[in-house]
Amino acid sequence: MLNDSIKYIRSKVTSQPTVGIVLGSGLGDFGEQVVDPVIINTRDVPNYPVSTVHGHSGKLIFGTIRDDKRCSAQLLVFQGRVHFYESNSLERVIYPIDVANALGVTTLLITNAAGGINRLFQPGDLMLIRDYINLTYENPLIGRGIRAGERMAGCFHEGLLKDALTAAKELHIPVQEGVYCWTKGPTYETASEIRMMQRLGADAVGMSTVPEVMTAAHFGMKVLGISCITNMATGITGQRLSHDEVTETANMAKAHFTSLVREIVLGLR
Ligand code: HPA
Repeated sequence: MLNDSIKYIRSKVTSQPTVGIVLGSGLGDFGEQVVDPVIINTRDVPNYPVSTVHGHSGKLIFGTIRDDKRCSAQLLVFQGRVHFYESNSLERVIYPIDVANALGVTTLLITNAAGGINRLFQPGDLMLIRDYINLTYENPLIGRGIRAGERMAGCFHEGLLKDALTAAKELHIPVQEGVYCWTKGPTYETASEIRMMQRLGADAVGMSTVPEVMTAAHFGMKVLGISCITNMATGITGQRLSHDEVTETANMAKAHFTSLVREIVLGLR
């Protein structure tokens, strides 16, 4: 099944990506950073799960990112992802990670939009994910030949996190660090659920990323996670943002996100 997808992709692309980038909701524009891209529509890839959320499929973008002095490793950028709430199938959610692994990806940058739980956060903040809480208790690795307790749950790579912090400092981009809590969705949380998550130690909440991180870590990939705090979670502030403020925040976050991810990718060894 995966073989058919890989065969198709290899028939269209000759580059051998080593770095994968999963772009979260609202962060898809980052794909435009790729120079001389080879783009594949996921709907054309045999067996590739197609997102139902926006009524259109995602894209796989192959190429590199460059500045005047540096050129990145060969990249595979995933524009658009499938969420668990679309189908109740984790196999579909982690399919892109299976593809990345089969194509030779060894480093994964995974991004998402998340609600801020930590009261020190503000919409527009970027949060480097230090750890996660899997509040769904779903596990994508069931059936993949792991004996109970044989492995730790998926972890983020210490070195990559450090590199990301250094890159942010150099660029004067303020970043937060924190714990991401995965919920199934599709509904947002109640105020009481958010209070519970806060007590459990979560800094942000969202409906993605954790199954992909678990799978990538299982494959031995080095994983970095970045959340874009698009809103404060239910009940955290009574305040409503005006539309202008939201647009402004989103645009600022996007500019910071693009600069930071570019710098991280260009600095990867
Ligand atoms: N909750 C869950 N998922 C989200 C949120 C939120 O507040 N914001 C963006 N994704």
